[in-house]
Amino acid sequence: MKVVVVGTGYVGLVTGACLSEVGIDVTCIDVNVQKIENLKKGILPIYEPGLDGLVERNTKKNRLKFSTDIGQTIIGADVVFIAVGTPPGEDGSADLQYVIQVADTVGKNMTDYLVVVTKSTVPVGTAAKVKSAIAAALAARSASIEFDVASNPEFLKEGAAIDDFLKPDRIVIGVESERAKSTLRKLYDPFVLNGHPIYFMDIPSAEMTKYAANAMLATKISFMNDIANLCDLVGANVNEVRKGIGSDARIGTKFIYPGIGYGGSCFPKDVKALVKTGEQNSYKLRILSAVDEVNNDQKMVLVNKINKHFNSDISGKIFAIWGLAFKPNTDDMREAPALVIIEALLKGGAKVKAYDPVSMKEAKHMLSPEVELCEEPMAATIGADALLLVTEWAEFRLPDWNHVKSNMAGHVVFDGRNIYNAEEMIQRGFDYYCIGMR
Ligand code: UDX
Repeated sequence: MKVVVVGTGYVGLVTGACLSEVGIDVTCIDVNVQKIENLKKGILPIYEPGLDGLVERNTKKNRLKFSTDIGQTIIGADVVFIAVGTPPGEDGSADLQYVIQVADTVGKNMTDYLVVVTKSTVPVGTAAKVKSAIAAALAARSASIEFDVASNPEFLKEGAAIDDFLKPDRIVIGVESERAKSTLRKLYDPFVLNGHPIYFMDIPSAEMTKYAANAMLATKISFMNDIANLCDLVGANVNEVRKGIGSDARIGTKFIYPGIGYGGSCFPKDVKALVKTGEQNSYKLRILSAVDEVNNDQKMVLVNKINKHFNSDISGKIFAIWGLAFKPNTDDMREAPALVIIEALLKGGAKVKAYDPVSMKEAKHMLSPEVELCEEPMAATIGADALLLVTEWAEFRLPDWNHVKSNMAGHVVFDGRNIYNAEEMIQRGFDYYCIGMR
């Protein structure tokens, strides 16, 4: 089986590397020459635990290759995955120009039957547009070559993507022919040896499944953040409430942790895009509009608590920030709450000293040069009036509090992820603020 993956972003690279791991011949394509040259040398554009080893091993075995030449590579291929970016346009809808460009190139160059699979998160109806673009390119060169389109959304979590791909909870595939179905079943059979299902369905349902999954997860988080804010006001403890509701199997224990809002490349973008799809179909997705609104406000919850503590005067104060990535085990800072928090602190005239275990490189180009980037967590606390726990990296769980305290000028901790014990923090002599507990 020969597979081509177009787009070596997060999804494309993980897909290509994991498919090659089970012995499939994979070539990953990108228009970015530098990126491809780096990948050939084993230099990855992203941080994802385990990905470097997978790329190195399979490149050596020559079953994972990298190229910029899509035209040559698709000759003899069985499946082409489209995993290029679908950035949000100004109105929140997904911009499909790169997906359609790839479809056009495939149509211009293909020589034999192919299954062309959309892997990027794309609105319902995209596979149909891909089909039209390929058909138009084939017609323009008077070629009559059979092909199928399919939709195979991914459910990878950053930081756990390799495991998610190799041992998925389920695989969702939208197809419209038996031929495509049997090709994709052959491709994915090695990944469901754990007995988990491959759900074949029609293409629009597969496209919708991806959005519905992310929208449901985002809803759980915003719901819990709303409850946490109310807990703050009425004197309840959201941690107890979370345990109390999570033990009901119908609700479940996962994704009900309150915090400072979800970030990353998926939830914010997908929630907005689905709301947009609703609008385009004259249907208002009221719950999801509220999910987005709650999340935007939630990113400011720590800042509001800070302003209250400092009587709205943070000018000249020093804030230590622990964690910049939108969640642990990734260097990704897209839509990270840290960006909103730091901007608000700087706007208030404060000084910010920040540390993150892996996203310092990202931080250099995503944060204002006014922010002092520190090489280790303790350095950020020197002279600080307050410490903010923004991303719950494991290394922040058990700090030497005596050291932190002696470094700091003021003794107040704002915990955006509820990882510290309130009573212990107070005993240690800190003013301690967290989410949804007094
Ligand atoms: C998500 C989906 O989980 C994945 O299936 C999809 O393919 C892509 O989007 P990812 O963006 O990597 O994956 O992150 P995830 O681990 O799901 O966390 C998303 C955000 O929600 C993070 O900002 C995290 O801090 C936040 N979160 C998560 C909470 O605030 N509370 C929770 O209980 C869980």
